[in-house]
Amino acid sequence: MTESNASGQEYWDGRYSESHHLWSGKPNAALIREVSDLKPGTALDLGCGEGADAIWLARRGWRVTATDISGVALERAAGHAASAGVAVDWRRHDLGASFPGGTFDLVSAHFLHSPGGLMPREAILRSAAAAVAPGGVLLIVGHAGWPAWDHDHDHDIHFPTPDEVFASLDLPAGAWEVLVRDEHERIQNDPDGNPTTRTDNTLKIRRLD
Ligand SMILES: C[S@@+](CC[C@H](N)C(=O)[O-])C[C@H]1O[C@@H](n2cnc3c(N)ncnc32)[C@H](O)[C@@H]1O
Repeated sequence: MTESNASGQEYWDGRYSESHHLWSGKPNAALIREVSDLKPGTALDLGCGEGADAIWLARRGWRVTATDISGVALERAAGHAASAGVAVDWRRHDLGASFPGGTFDLVSAHFLHSPGGLMPREAILRSAAAAVAPGGVLLIVGHAGWPAWDHDHDHDIHFPTPDEVFASLDLPAGAWEVLVRDEHERIQNDPDGNPTTRTDNTLKIRRLD
């Protein structure tokens, strides 16, 4: 861990400290869909939260480095990994200030969103592309908008389309192959437990050289 973004860290540590778990504890459906047919190698999970994706990858034989700005989330994730009997290299990074070294066969960023101004998402995703090994895959999954039940959001977050994400990566022509660039719906429970439809998007690209 090097420098930190105090407000981003405080915001996320605060959110994770509000409850025993913030997320479902299950790996993201898009991760399972897009990664199940890849040969395990090295993986980097950006904004890993409570660790469900990293643990799922490790269980499938990936050697996983998982990062988050929140020490509260990482401590929880490490506990879940110990219970699952898998090893993950957990590292705290404010990814806008420091980024794990090396290259990886898979770099995965699921719902790497943060309130406006707290995180330079586009710059982080460009670093993510630079961390993909030749032949490796960059998988970026994000929300396409706010959930239908949330009428009270006060944060200024722009949810980019897959085309906007791809353009913002500013990749050299001919060096990457687009594997998936789409929007998809999934069922998510609202705070009262009622199922609602949420739209997400996926960009999955392979580095050719
Ligand atoms: C919406 S959550 C998604 C968590 C997890 N990927 C998932 O799908 O359940 C966003 C995550 O990004 C992390 N995060 C926010 N800003 C960050 C930053 N600058 N550097 C690293 N992680 C950050 C948060 O702590 C949080 O765990």
